[in-house]
Amino acid sequence: MLTGKRIILGVTGSIAAYKAAEIVRRLKSANADVTIVMTKAGMEFITPLTMQTLSCNPVYTETFVLQKDSRMAHIEVVKAADLFLIAPATANIIGKIAAGIGDDILTTIVLSAKCPVLIAPAMDSDMYENPIVQRNIAFLKERECRFIEPEEGELASGIIGKGRLADVDKIVSSVIDILVVKKDLKGEVVLVTAGPTREYIDPVRFISNRSTGKMGYAIAEAAKSRGAEVMLISGHSSLQRPKDVELINVVTADEMREEVMRNIERATIVIMAAAVSDYRPIKVSQDKLKKSGKDISMGFTEVPDILSEIGRNKGNRIIVGFAAETSDIINNAMYKLKEKNLDMIVANDVSDTDAGFEVDTNIVTIIDKDGIVAKLDKMPKKDVAHRIFDRIVNFKRRHLDSILR
Ligand SMILES: Cc1cc2nc3c(=O)[nH]c(=O)nc-3n(C[C@H](O)[C@H](O)[C@H](O)COP(=O)(O)O)c2cc1C
Repeated sequence: MLTGKRIILGVTGSIAAYKAAEIVRRLKSANADVTIVMTKAGMEFITPLTMQTLSCNPVYTETFVLQKDSRMAHIEVVKAADLFLIAPATANIIGKIAAGIGDDILTTIVLSAKCPVLIAPAMDSDMYENPIVQRNIAFLKERECRFIEPEEGELASGIIGKGRLADVDKIVSSVIDILVVKKDLKGEVVLVTAGPTREYIDPVRFISNRSTGKMGYAIAEAAKSRGAEVMLISGHSSLQRPKDVELINVVTADEMREEVMRNIERATIVIMAAAVSDYRPIKVSQDKLKKSGKDISMGFTEVPDILSEIGRNKGNRIIVGFAAETSDIINNAMYKLKEKNLDMIVANDVSDTDAGFEVDTNIVTIIDKDGIVAKLDKMPKKDVAHRIFDRIVNFKRRHLDSILR
């Protein structure tokens, strides 16, 4: 499965370092090309000779060594890598990476890594629960490092708690998840809405909202990468059109509704991530409004609720809505899920500065109509998009009979 994939495996000074030998063996048997980088402390626990023999590649342990050619090893090795896995990762290495320190070969390589970084922590539970370690992990997650959570159980110190290196199976399957793009949406036609709508007051003024389209565009990209045919109906956005996605630009809520209705027949999955206006001015002035020296008031009327309309005529489609809330998020989202006859709802707290509008990260809770609630940590919107599809694929599997009927 990993033929042609180049993985750097960083081994640090944890008692679990001996498990790195099994990780290399498993990655090698999946045909990956594995290069090992070890910290000094890592070498106290397992020898470079063992790692070299298992990986069939040179092992990097020093920053300041003369190479046969004049190239810098730490730059060369990481340039070609598809993934940097650190397993086991000590509290120390996590702290150093979070602080941007490069004082040995491993941390120096991480600093220049452009590939995904996957970290499998292993440490005593007291260390793992230390707020500083947790803060470092949270900080790195926001910066696109991925983590494989340690397990609970008996630790080398004799304490029972969370901190044991994740199972080797789990580590290898996380590597596969990242490196082998799933094509589990092949055959699906995904319709995604994104961005804000604009409701004009006069020819130059409108009411709108802070949506940039980032979440919806990330969903469209994720669907495409997983093999789906994708239609993206977008309100005004300055984002680049996702590759190989059919982009339909709209301005107003009415236009958004029209395009959704025109294209929905073909769709098997509909994800409504756009921030559609709830109201529009009753009267649109044909000419630009001018100052009159007096206050003015304006009447607004509700725009049609697209989500309710497609929920009423959903057929066999999976319909996913978004709930941008500022209070009582879960209850409001659950109400919306039932009321609008949705299969799934993605609730986010738009009052949080790192979630919702204008930012690259989101903090969401995904709720499906079976009552399964998944509260996700803060993560980049592209990861949120993949998590939504993971849940849709599972949901479809569970409901396969009723969908086929
Ligand atoms: C026997 C022993 C076991 C250790 N196990 C761990 C461990 O599992 N996790 C951890 O974070 N530190 C562990 N440490 C402490 C680290 O080895 C120490 O913080 C070291 O500086 C880490 O260096 P490195 O991050 O550069 O590999 C252990 C130390 C000893 C002596």
